[in-house]
Amino acid sequence: MNPELFEKVDHYISDLFAVEDKVLTSTISSLHDEGLPQISVSANQGKFLQVLATLCNAKRILELGTLGGYSTIWLARALPQNGKLLTVELEAAHAAVAQKNIDAAGVGDKVQIVTGKAVEILEELIAGREDPFDFIFIDADKPPYTEYFGLALQLSRKGTLIICDNVIREGKVLDETCEDEMVQGVQRFNRMLSKNNEVTAIILPTVGVKEFDGMAIAVVK
Ligand code: SAH
Ligand code: DHB
Ligand code: MG
Repeated sequence: MNPELFEKVDHYISDLFAVEDKVLTSTISSLHDEGLPQISVSANQGKFLQVLATLCNAKRILELGTLGGYSTIWLARALPQNGKLLTVELEAAHAAVAQKNIDAAGVGDKVQIVTGKAVEILEELIAGREDPFDFIFIDADKPPYTEYFGLALQLSRKGTLIICDNVIREGKVLDETCEDEMVQGVQRFNRMLSKNNEVTAIILPTVGVKEFDGMAIAVVK
């Protein structure tokens, strides 16, 4: 197997199941135009998140790491009319780009972008006794993934689905001497998740148009 084949198969799947409309393609080009990194989920991963949010009948979604709103739009499209998605973004410049894309997608009434540090925002939500979320997508900075997950659990109920992106990092998680703080962050997270008795969890490796990576999938027991 070679990487080109994985890419071709990813396109084969997205041509069938995850065709982007104009809003999604322009969201990706807005990242380039505005100098934002191309680290959105892929089309198939966006559709995968949408399928999972539909599966759990999500009415309240929480996302950490908005960037330009690409994953946000895929997820918001799984929501019913009265559904809500709260997405947390550190960079005001990213949030501004995302707001335009989210409005263009026609989901601006369902989506609220909160600008700030994810830990602080989550602590505020917990202190304010926010209702539990049905679906949580963790995709912000990697070193505090373990802390994000602990806070996410406090905003969950039995059955809440928590998905965490980028937990395999091209297989670098195998290297216990790796000095990359993003890799170390997900290694610490994966160890914690494997021992966490509050959830039943697994990691799904992902190959395709993005680099080899993986998503952790956890259901609150
Ligand atoms: N979910 C997006 C991609 C997110 S990229 C998508 O798939 O389309 C990660 C984002 O997390 C970046 O925009 C970055 O600015 C943001 N981020 C980094 N550190 C953060 C923090 N401490 N709190 C909240 N957001 C953070
Ligand atoms: C990075 C972050 C992501 O969320 C992602 O999907 C890919 C890469 C990064 O910070 O390198
Ligand atoms: Mg990611």
